[in-house]
Amino acid sequence: MCGIVGAIGYETTTEILLKGLERLEYRGYDSAGLYINDQTGHDYLVKTVGKIATLKSAVKPTVQGSLGIAHTRWATHGQPSEANAHPQFSTSQRFYLVHNGVINNFTALKQQYLADTHFASQTDTEVLVQLIAKFVEQEQLTTLAALQKTLQLVNGSYALILVDRDQPDQLYIAKNKSPLLIGLGEQGNVVTSDALATYDLTDQYLELHDQEIAAVSADQVQLLTLQGASQTRQPITITVTDGEVSKGTYPTYMLKEIDEQPAVMRRISQKYLTAAGEPQIDPNLLTALAQADRLYFVAAGTSYHASLVGKRLFEKFTQIPVEVGVASEFGYHWPILAQHPFFIFLSQSGETADSRQVLIEAKRRGLPTLVITNVTNSTLARESDFHLDLYAGPEIAVASTKAYTAQIAVEAVLAKALGTYLKLPAAEEWSLQTQLGLAANGMETLVDNKQGWSDLANNFLGASQDAFYLGRGIDYDVSLEAALKLKEISYVHTEGFAAGELKHGTIALIEENVPVITFITEASTAGHTRGNVQEVLARGAQVLVIASEDCQQADDQIVLPQLTPELMPLLTGVCGQLLAYYATLQRGLNVDQPRNLAKSVTVE
Ligand code: M6R
Repeated sequence: MCGIVGAIGYETTTEILLKGLERLEYRGYDSAGLYINDQTGHDYLVKTVGKIATLKSAVKPTVQGSLGIAHTRWATHGQPSEANAHPQFSTSQRFYLVHNGVINNFTALKQQYLADTHFASQTDTEVLVQLIAKFVEQEQLTTLAALQKTLQLVNGSYALILVDRDQPDQLYIAKNKSPLLIGLGEQGNVVTSDALATYDLTDQYLELHDQEIAAVSADQVQLLTLQGASQTRQPITITVTDGEVSKGTYPTYMLKEIDEQPAVMRRISQKYLTAAGEPQIDPNLLTALAQADRLYFVAAGTSYHASLVGKRLFEKFTQIPVEVGVASEFGYHWPILAQHPFFIFLSQSGETADSRQVLIEAKRRGLPTLVITNVTNSTLARESDFHLDLYAGPEIAVASTKAYTAQIAVEAVLAKALGTYLKLPAAEEWSLQTQLGLAANGMETLVDNKQGWSDLANNFLGASQDAFYLGRGIDYDVSLEAALKLKEISYVHTEGFAAGELKHGTIALIEENVPVITFITEASTAGHTRGNVQEVLARGAQVLVIASEDCQQADDQIVLPQLTPELMPLLTGVCGQLLAYYATLQRGLNVDQPRNLAKSVTVE
C-alpha cells in the first residue's frame, strides 16, 4: 500500500522517479506526487489526484534536480486529494516527506505536541513531518536527531523518505514494518519500496530492518538503529529483467499473467523435482515439519484460498491435521494450539501486514515457521525459519492469478516430499511430475480458447450485477477464489458458497437469469451438486457447469482433463480467472488496477 521512491546523485532524477512510480503503481494509484531539488536553490513540488499518467503530464520540463522523492498513494487517512497526496511538508516548507504505512497514534501526537500547528491535510503522515520540523526549528535538534526523536514517539508502521531543504545532499530514510530498500548505483543511490522500481539502475540493494534509519547521499550510506547505534550490512543482489516487468504485446498484465501459468507449472517442476520426479526440499525443513502434530496455514485473500487447497493436499498426503486461518482474524484470536504446531504462511508479495503480525507472534512463541512466497527477499521470507519460492515471476496485476496456481503447485511439492519422507504410500506412489505436466497442458488449452471465454463471460455474466459460484469440497475452495476474482475487478456482487448450503438460505437470492457458475470435479459429491444445479435451474438461474472428465455430463459447457482431485484448482482456478477477466473487460473497466485496491497490503 503506497509506493515510495527517492533518488540522489543522478542527472535524470525526474525520469527515474516517474518511471519508478509507474512500476510501483500496483501498490496504490489514487493520487501521486514528487519533490525535486536541484541543490542550487531551486525546488519543485507537484501533486495530482489520479494515476501516475496524470502526474506525468503535470510535471513540466523545468522540474529537474539531482535529489528527489516521490509517492503513489493508496489512501488510508483522508480522501484522495492534492492536499492529502505526498510529499507532505512542514508549515515552514523546509521538510518534505513521503510515507508508506500507518501512524496509529497520530491524533495523540498532534494533541500533545502540535496543538498550535496548522495542518494542511488530513493525513497521519503530516504529523511526522510537522513534528520533525518542530524539533529542528524550536528545539534546535539536527534533522537526524529530530527524525530519531519523532520515530521514538511513533506507534505504527512506516517506510519513509525525508528531505531537509537546507541539506539537499541527503535523503533521510527510516523503516518499521513497511518494506524499504536502498539501491546502490554507480552514479548515485536510490531508495524504494520494491526493487522493481529501480532495477535498471542497480541490482545491489541494502535492506533496512525494522526501526532503522539511514542517511543516504550520492555516494554514501550511513545506517543506524533508531537509538543511534551504527549498523553495517552487506548488499544483496536482486535481479529483475525487462521481460518480467513489461506487458510486452499484451493489453493487460492480468492477461499476460494468466497466460504464463503453464510455464510457471513447468518451472516449478524443474526447480523442485529431480529428473526422476522426486521432490527436492531442504531436509531440515522436512525434519521440522515431520515433528509437527498440526500445521497452521495463515494467509489473506487469494493466498488464503490457496491455503484451503493446501489443507486438503497435506491431510491427504501427509496425514497431519491442518488448520487454516485468515491472517487478520488469526492474529487477534489465536486458537488453542496443538502440542507441536508448525506455521505455514502463504503470501505472493511476502509483505502482507496481516500475515506478518501472526508470523511475529509465532516467532515470539518460539514456533517453527515457513513462508511460501513469490518474492525471495521479502520481509516474510527474511523473517521466517524457512522459505520456499513460487518461481512465478513478478505478478503486477492487482488480481492474483499465476501466484495462486503456483502456491497450489508448491504446496503439492511439499506435501509429496513430506509424505514420502514419512513413507506414506499415497505420497510415494503419486507422480507429481505427471500431474504438473497434465496441469500445464490443460492450462494451455484453456488460455488458448480466449474467444470461447470471452463469449461465455458475455453470455453468462454480461448483464448481471450478481453472480454465484458453487461447489463442494475442493470445488467449494475454488468457488471462493473465483468469486473473489470476479468481484475485485468487475465490481459485480459475487458469492462463493458450499453447494449444500444453498437450501439453508442462499437459494432465496436465486431469481430469473442470475448466473450460477458451478464447479463439479469430485466424483464422490458430483451427484449432490448436480441436484443443486437442478434446484437453481428450477428457479430460473442461468447455470454454467465446469466439470472434470470423470464428472462430466452431456450439456456441461466446460470439461477439464482429470487431475488428482486436490489439484483440480489448477484448472478450475484458471477458468474463474478467465471469466472474471473477460467480464471486466466487457464492462470497460481497468482490469489491472481495480478501484480501492492495492497489490501489496502493508497495513493491518
Ligand atoms: O501478497 P499476498 O498473497 O499476501 O496478498 C494477499 C491478498 O491481499 C491478495 O491475495 C488479494 O486478495 C488479491 N487482490 C487477490 O487477487
